[in-house]
Amino acid sequence: MEFLKTCVLRRKAWTTVCFWRSQVIQKLSVRKIGTTSPRSTVMPAWVIDKYGKNEVLRFTQNMRMPIIHYPNEVIIKVHATSVNPIDVNMRSGYGAAALNMKRDPLHIKIKGEEFPLTLGRDVSGVVMECGLDVKYFKPGDEVSHKPKSLTHTQAASLPYVALTAWSAINKVGGLNEKNCTGKRVLILGASGGVGTFAIQVMKAWDAHVTAVCSQDASGLVKKLGADDVIDYKSGNVEEQLKSLKPFDFILDNVGGSTETWALNLLKKWSGATYVTLVTPFLLNMDRLGVADGMLQTGVTMGSKTLKHFWQGVHYRWAFFMASGLYLDDIAKLVDEGKIQPVIEKTFPFSEVPEAFLKVERGHARGKTVINVI
Ligand SMILES: NC(=O)c1ccc[n+]([C@@H]2O[C@H](COP(=O)([O-])OP(=O)(O)OC[C@H]3O[C@@H](n4cnc5c(N)ncnc54)[C@H](OP(=O)(O)O)[C@@H]3O)[C@@H](O)[C@H]2O)c1
Repeated sequence: MEFLKTCVLRRKAWTTVCFWRSQVIQKLSVRKIGTTSPRSTVMPAWVIDKYGKNEVLRFTQNMRMPIIHYPNEVIIKVHATSVNPIDVNMRSGYGAAALNMKRDPLHIKIKGEEFPLTLGRDVSGVVMECGLDVKYFKPGDEVSHKPKSLTHTQAASLPYVALTAWSAINKVGGLNEKNCTGKRVLILGASGGVGTFAIQVMKAWDAHVTAVCSQDASGLVKKLGADDVIDYKSGNVEEQLKSLKPFDFILDNVGGSTETWALNLLKKWSGATYVTLVTPFLLNMDRLGVADGMLQTGVTMGSKTLKHFWQGVHYRWAFFMASGLYLDDIAKLVDEGKIQPVIEKTFPFSEVPEAFLKVERGHARGKTVINVI
């Protein structure tokens, strides 16, 4: 979320990527500009100067405005943003090893180089300036080519969770609009940002969806199209799910002990797949360093994949994946009315720390959004 009001996009593929897709903020540095003039040299922003609890979030009026360094960059005036669990985790230092390497490979060993750091990844806004090579966007484009039917507030709630769900379901899981009819899909953690989006895509593609969530979220997930709803807090969730027909696909947004039992719910030897979004990938790098962390990740993933393969099911990890093409597909479904943004709460820019606390407390029912303008 960019707790700033403009961003420079530094993506090689920028000219082919619309900005609504560019929420991929690992490669963005987004800055809040003064509301008076786009030529200001400074802008307000929420930053952190060290990792820690919510108190580390600091508001400044004096963040330097971004400038275009490379011809494939654009500067965006951010209108709205949303908070994801990873933003809260990163405030505490989660993923610092990998993300610092991505930010600046040469400075990987210099601790603290990243500060002051602006957290966040989702944005919706308006293109202000374009580098010389940028053809796909022009100043004034609404961030850019976002779903026409959505406001900036609504659009900002989608990119990160939508691309994560799409990556898990389509890229890793192999499901698409042509092969989903009647497939039995189980979504663990159905009431949060990723889950509420995933239910809607699966229903748009005609799958049969079983959603696992808390009892108070059952109305929400049913409204989004879930066919069966299981309350994981009333009784043994594994036993409840075992009494249903086996599944073709499981999306796990919960992790932890779920993978010790969830794979038993899949149809055997039929190509059925379990995909989890909760992986030790970044944690391994934080603990062991980048090289050893990646090695450990490879070993863990490989051994689990193999073990389950011999038991007749596919075991996979999935990650957020930046893709302009996917965002085009998603925007189409949104504009066709098949997917709606699910916004639980909206905060003003002055209340970024409150928004972080809200997400940190958990029990999300859709997304938490911040109106920057
Ligand atoms: N690999 C990646 O690149 C990637 C990208 C995005 C997200 N993620 C991960 O994916 C997970 C989901 O992300 P999100 O943005 O959807 O999180 P979120 O918005 O915080 O939603 C999590 C949801 O799960 C529910 N929940 C918690 N425990 C549950 C359980 N045992 N069974 C069923 N539901 C449960 C929570 O509500 P209640 O507690 O009230 O039930 C909440 O609605 C997070 O762990 C996140 O870190 C990974």
